[in-house]
Amino acid sequence: MHFGDHQTSIYASGMFLGQTPELTTDLTRLETAAAEVLDAAALGYIVPSAGGGDTARANVEAFARWRLVPRMLRDHAQRDLATTVLGTPMSAPVLLGPVGVQTLAHPDGELASARAAAALGLPFVQSTQASHDLEQVAEASGDGARWYQLYWPNDDELCESLLARAAAAGYTVLVVTLDTTLLGWRPRDLDRGYLPFLAGVGIANYTSDPVFQRRLEKPAADDPGAAGLAFASVFPNPGLSWERLAWLRERWAGPIVLKGLQHVDDALLARDHGVEGVVVSNHGGRQVDGALASLDALPAIAEAVGDDLAVLFDSGVRSGPDVAKALALGADAVLLGRPYLYGLALAGQAGVEHVLRCLLAELDLTLAGCGWSGLDDLGPHCLQRA
Ligand SMILES: Cc1cc2nc3c(=O)[nH]c(=O)nc-3n(C[C@H](O)[C@H](O)[C@H](O)COP(=O)(O)O)c2cc1C
Repeated sequence: MHFGDHQTSIYASGMFLGQTPELTTDLTRLETAAAEVLDAAALGYIVPSAGGGDTARANVEAFARWRLVPRMLRDHAQRDLATTVLGTPMSAPVLLGPVGVQTLAHPDGELASARAAAALGLPFVQSTQASHDLEQVAEASGDGARWYQLYWPNDDELCESLLARAAAAGYTVLVVTLDTTLLGWRPRDLDRGYLPFLAGVGIANYTSDPVFQRRLEKPAADDPGAAGLAFASVFPNPGLSWERLAWLRERWAGPIVLKGLQHVDDALLARDHGVEGVVVSNHGGRQVDGALASLDALPAIAEAVGDDLAVLFDSGVRSGPDVAKALALGADAVLLGRPYLYGLALAGQAGVEHVLRCLLAELDLTLAGCGWSGLDDLGPHCLQRA
C-alpha cells in the first residue's frame, strides 16, 4: 500500500461509482474555496500575513525557483515515506504544524485536526494559543503522536504549569516558538480591530490552567474580556535570550525544538545551547514582513548543523512537490500550516484528512516519478535552479 494509491481510488470512484471528490485535489486552490465559507474576521486572521504580505508571497515563490530533476529506470516499485524524528515515528515526514484558534475555521477546531493527524499516522503539534485545551486535544488524538508548541509566557509559574500539563498529557516534544515574542504588524486584523484572544477565543490552554486561573478575579467564562486581557499581559516576552534555555531544559525532559529560525548562526547557537532540533520558519510571513523566504534559509542551516540537530521546515508548503523540495534541501520533515486549516474550514476532520491524503499521495507520486524510492534518495542532487 502506497499513499499514491489514493489516486487510483479517486479515479475508480469517479469511473465506477460516479463519485467525485467533494473538495478539490489541487491543494493550491483550497485558499480560494475556504474564502467562500469563512466569515470576514476568520478569513482576515487566517489567510493574510504581516504587512503587505511580501514575505508570505516570497515563501511560496521560493519553491518555484527550484525544479525537481526526474531520473528514469530506477526500480521504485517499493516506496517508503515513513520516518522517525526525535523519537516520534510518522508515516511520512509531515507534521500538522501549530496553528492557533482553529475554531475560527470550524467549531471542532483542533479536535478535528488532531483526529485527522492520528488517522493518517502523522504527529499533531498543539499550539499554546488553541481553542481547545491540550488535555482535550490529547484525548482526541488518542494513540496519535503529539508535540506541544510553547509560546513562552513572561510568567514563570504559568510556564512551568503548561509544561507539566503537556508532559502529563503525552506530548513528547516541546516546540518553542521564538519568532513571536510580540505579535507582528497585521493590517488586515488591525483594520478590523480584531484579535480573537481578547474575546477569550483561542486561550483555552490559559483559561484551563490553575496558575492562570489564580490570576483572574472571576472565572473566565463569567468575564471572557478580563481573561483576554490577562492573557495579553502574560503573552509578550521580548526579554527572552539564549541564556534562558537552560531554565527551560530543567523543566522539560524530552526533546526541545526551536521554531522560527532563519539565520545559520542562530541554528548553531541552538545546537550549542543543547536543544535537539530547529524549525526553519518565518511563521508563514505573519511576523516580519520583508523577511527572507523560509526555503531560502533552509539549505545553509541544514548544511551547518548536519546531523547534530533535527531540521524541520515550514512556511509556504502547499503541495507534494513542495515537501519533496524541502526534504531535498535538507529538512528531515515539514510542518503543514494553512492548507490543513483550509481543509478544516471546508469540511472539518474529513476536510483535513482530504488535504493530508492528497498531499501524501502527490508526494509519493512525485518520488515515484523522479525515480526515488524513499527519503534517503533525496538530496540537493535531486534539484536544479529554475
Ligand atoms: C492562522 C494561523 C495561526 C498560527 N498560529 C500559530 C501558533 O499558535 N503557534 C505557532 O508556533 N505558529 C503558528 N502559526 C504559524 C504556523 O505554525 C506555520 O509556521 C505557518 O503557518 C507556516 O506558513 P504557511 O501556513 O504559509 O505554510 C500560525 C499560522 C496561521 C496561518
